[in-house]
Amino acid sequence: MILGICGSPRKKATEYVLVEALKILNDAGFKTEFFTVRGKKIEFCRHCDYCLKKKKCVIKDDMNFLYSLLNKASGLIIATPVYNGGVSSQLKTIMDRCRALAASNNNFFKNKYGMAIAVGGDRIGGQELAIQQIMTFYILNGVLPIGGGPFGANLGATFWSKDTLEDVMKDDEGFRSLRKTLKKFMEFSKIWNK
Ligand SMILES: Cc1cc2nc3c(=O)[nH]c(=O)nc-3n(C[C@H](O)[C@H](O)[C@H](O)COP(=O)(O)O)c2cc1C
Repeated sequence: MILGICGSPRKKATEYVLVEALKILNDAGFKTEFFTVRGKKIEFCRHCDYCLKKKKCVIKDDMNFLYSLLNKASGLIIATPVYNGGVSSQLKTIMDRCRALAASNNNFFKNKYGMAIAVGGDRIGGQELAIQQIMTFYILNGVLPIGGGPFGANLGATFWSKDTLEDVMKDDEGFRSLRKTLKKFMEFSKIWNK
């Protein structure tokens, strides 16, 4: 199963492009699940170290459902709006709360693979920096990072929303970068799951 995680608190540009990505995967025969931070209660990691001792997070909130989805996922697509040149704080909170997964099982993310989508209001607003943050999360947790390849996608899918849903829909270059990245992602998935 491929899990799409949306880091936007709104049903706008980031959710739109992630859902489009999942549709492309569904059409290619992949099973997908979608999770959004929108409307969810996900507390900050408290660094209480309960997870190191008890192998689970002490906080009971919507992260528990995401933990179960992450457990089932073989591939990840993390999509974020660009906030101050990085990922949204909601997405960063999810990343931090994943410490409990690594604490419960050092190999939790082993053999999973992931790509990234970043949507900025500005044309050059930090999309690559946000993707870099997602890639760093992947690398340090053992998720194999999948980029989009040179000439068009590079680190992953990058979108320019001009702060509106309507404009992200018209971002042909963004969708080109998404298709290129998905192509690499699907190719990798087929080889990896042989
Ligand atoms: C707190 C905040 C910080 C933002 N910082 C940036 C930024 O650094 N660069 C950028 O291009 N856009 C920035 N934006 C604009 C959003 O990335 C843009 O509107 C994006 O489309 C929001 O995604 P959404 O439509 O899924 O909510 C920021 C928006 C907010 C609310």
